[in-house]
Amino acid sequence: MPVPKHLDPRRYYRRARQFYFASRYDPAATAAAERAKFEAAGLDVEAARARLDEVLLELSGKRFDHVTGTDSVHWLLLAALSLTPWGRKVRRVLEIGTFRGKTTRILHDLFPEAKIVTCDLPESDPIMNSSYGREGPAIRAHHLAKRTQNLDNSRIRFVEANSFFLPSLTPGPYDLIWVDGGHLYPEIAWDLCNAWHAAAEDGVILCDDVYLDPQGGDRIYDSPDSGEVLRYIEARTDAELTFFLKRENPHWSADPVRRKYVAVLRKRREG
Ligand SMILES: C[S@@+](CC[C@H](N)C(=O)[O-])C[C@H]1O[C@@H](n2cnc3c(N)ncnc32)[C@H](O)[C@@H]1O
Repeated sequence: MPVPKHLDPRRYYRRARQFYFASRYDPAATAAAERAKFEAAGLDVEAARARLDEVLLELSGKRFDHVTGTDSVHWLLLAALSLTPWGRKVRRVLEIGTFRGKTTRILHDLFPEAKIVTCDLPESDPIMNSSYGREGPAIRAHHLAKRTQNLDNSRIRFVEANSFFLPSLTPGPYDLIWVDGGHLYPEIAWDLCNAWHAAAEDGVILCDDVYLDPQGGDRIYDSPDSGEVLRYIEARTDAELTFFLKRENPHWSADPVRRKYVAVLRKRREG
């Protein structure tokens, strides 16, 4: 029988760690370190924030917030990339893991010349009906309605398939690939492998929810598997790999084990 949540000692251990690391968290130093990564990658974080806020205010009436809120840096990275000379030439985008299509919609707005292919599981797949709170028919119907609304655009094509089949369904090439489907082995291994081969020569791959600590992740939704696969690729190719902190919010990022990153893998190094 599963232990009730309030009796699970891991819960109290996690809270104690949270408290300890939060008391040592330095928001200014974290912000400076993350800003330096944007600069090193040739990305203008201020211009990106202004552009992203424009898009988000139009879509949801809210500004980007990954310091006190739960927004993820991938939106900021996508905005920053969209403003570069490379980004202005992006015409083909692939998203693995559509969910409700919020990022699909943001990609659509940030890359006005691009066609976007986005892929998620068929309704018959057991993972579809047992994850992300989609268990009940009413919630699932709401989820699908929201997705349909977000994807209703001539520049967006939805592929209803397990990402395992993407190479035969839509082989690319893609300028930009957002990897955000299954976060565990084996899915993450084929998603990153397929993304590598589907990316154009100067393509950029972003990957969500990367744990760099081997103890990270709950092994249900996420794990350190993506970090391992990315490091494997980096060691064997000419790619440039940078890990950006997913949120500057100490609740999520103070504890080094719980901290998540968004990886940016540039297939070809700059310069
Ligand atoms: C974290 S959500 C995606 C969030 C979305 N990309 C966004 O930024 O708003 C992950 C999605 O990946 C889908 N998924 C999981 N395994 C998959 C697979 N093997 N093939 C395709 N989609 C998968 C899940 O059904 C879920 O909708």
